[in-house]
Amino acid sequence: MGYEAKLRVWRGDDGAGELRDYTVEAEEGEVVLDLIHRLQATQAPDLAVRWNCKAGKCGSCSAEVNGRPRLLCMTRLSVFRREEVITVTPMRTFPVVRDLVTDVSYNYVKARQIPSFTPPPELEPGAYRMQQVDVQRSQEFRKCIECFLCQNVCHVIRDHEENKTAFAGPRFLMRIAELEMHPLDAADRRDEAQTEHGLGYCNITKCCTEVCPENIHITDNALIPMKERVADRRYDPVVWLGNKLFRR
Ligand code: SF4
Ligand code: F3S
Ligand code: FES
Repeated sequence: MGYEAKLRVWRGDDGAGELRDYTVEAEEGEVVLDLIHRLQATQAPDLAVRWNCKAGKCGSCSAEVNGRPRLLCMTRLSVFRREEVITVTPMRTFPVVRDLVTDVSYNYVKARQIPSFTPPPELEPGAYRMQQVDVQRSQEFRKCIECFLCQNVCHVIRDHEENKTAFAGPRFLMRIAELEMHPLDAADRRDEAQTEHGLGYCNITKCCTEVCPENIHITDNALIPMKERVADRRYDPVVWLGNKLFRR
């Protein structure tokens, strides 16, 4: 049975904005993106929202619903009480373009700064061999749909704009971990993770893992193992001595 849903949506641009209240027809089984689309169709044709697949796979419809980072297309209305006001705001960590659309170019800048997969020079393409267990490990990370909800929620940049230059964020620290764990990647990414991409800023709050719509164990399977590898490298006395003797 249909009902009247109460929607509060942030309207504005990078200069100024406000929360506006709307009442929108809702149907059983719908998601928040359905309400946003109906709002566009009936009352607010100029409302800007980014979306594409409506199936939780393109990572475009990221926003905040009642303060929690979520995909609009995967947030069922049934998680809210019918009389509850559903507040939809743009991701807070990135600059607003208009209404619910943010400028996520920070993430593409960070992606470009990570050196790509580097196989050993003597290995011809087609001669790569690796164990299934190693394939499975990186497959978890490859489920990422680049929604940037983890980047949005991480307090290191959410509350500190000034950290954006030094911190790549969980999605890209996970990419570095994926390459570091890859048995055929010949590059040593440990120092760079710490010095260039800000791994040390992460204090394992795990908020990134909590909001990931793909349920990737970002903290436990990527960030903590990466921190352990960096610690081994930096504090292992044998490695330290080796560095002293051979890396002058
Ligand atoms: Fe989104 Fe998860 Fe990928 Fe982060 S790791 S960008 S939350 S899918
Ligand atoms: Fe941020 Fe995730 Fe670390 S939320 S602090 S990157 S565990
Ligand atoms: Fe593609 Fe929501 S529209 S993930």
